[in-house]
Amino acid sequence: MKIQHFFDEVTNTLTYVIYDEKSKDAVVIDPVLNFNYASGEVEIHQVKSLLEFFQMHHLILHFILETHVHADHLTSAAYLKKEFPLAKTAIGKRITEVQKTFKSIFNLPKTFATDGRQFDKLLDDDEIFHAGSLKIQAIQTAGHTPCCLSYLINDQAVFTGDALFMPDYGTGRCDFPGGDAAHLYRSIQDQLYRLPENTKVYVGHDYLPGGRSLLFQSTIEEEKANNVHLPAKSSETEFVAMRQTRDKTLAAPKLLYPSLQVNIAAGNFPDPEDNGLSYLKVPLKLS
Ligand SMILES: [Fe+2]
Repeated sequence: MKIQHFFDEVTNTLTYVIYDEKSKDAVVIDPVLNFNYASGEVEIHQVKSLLEFFQMHHLILHFILETHVHADHLTSAAYLKKEFPLAKTAIGKRITEVQKTFKSIFNLPKTFATDGRQFDKLLDDDEIFHAGSLKIQAIQTAGHTPCCLSYLINDQAVFTGDALFMPDYGTGRCDFPGGDAAHLYRSIQDQLYRLPENTKVYVGHDYLPGGRSLLFQSTIEEEKANNVHLPAKSSETEFVAMRQTRDKTLAAPKLLYPSLQVNIAAGNFPDPEDNGLSYLKVPLKLS
């Protein structure tokens, strides 16, 4: 099994391609669509890089896996599906809760489905599935959002999305609608920290704390010993207090509203209006 990372410097997001060199079977986790909010222009730098990589290695893309509905970048799942029509999009089954929440917040049309049908596959907790020769287990790691999953591949590497970051950065925020710090504590302690200690951890973001260079891979052993927010010995009360205090200080991500509207629809933009153009909404908070 080989793992190639792609780093989006604008949103500090890590995208991973996991593949088997022999069989050429591959999956991608959390691909990014570059989006210029000010101009409304979609840019496909990363999509191009992924396409080149797949072509260079002659890979067969089986799944486009989302760890959750991201609030800070747009997924390129829909663009990748155009290039790889046989690839299936997959996300946790609790996407339905997230769709209901944001359908209400954005006052989406009645026709917007909240049963997850925009995705090809809705994953159960602990569901094991295969991408050719790759074995993938969906591990429920809710807390940052209700539908967060981590993906354990070939029992060797776990891709934790926004649940667990590098030890020196900690954990994902829990203040988005449906987020829950106590739930994240339980997800990390009961799910991730029970994996074998030599399991490699690949994180969903790296914010380069203190100006250090990019890091994106640790181990369960290192996280349990050194995670600044949640070493294995920390109590739920301590963690929840820390998380809630810290979350009050965090600004809304720049791409919050575009990301949510596009990502709950598996990367598809809203239907065009009668002039042929698509629009995104910003809910105003007027005082
Ligand atoms: Fe996120």
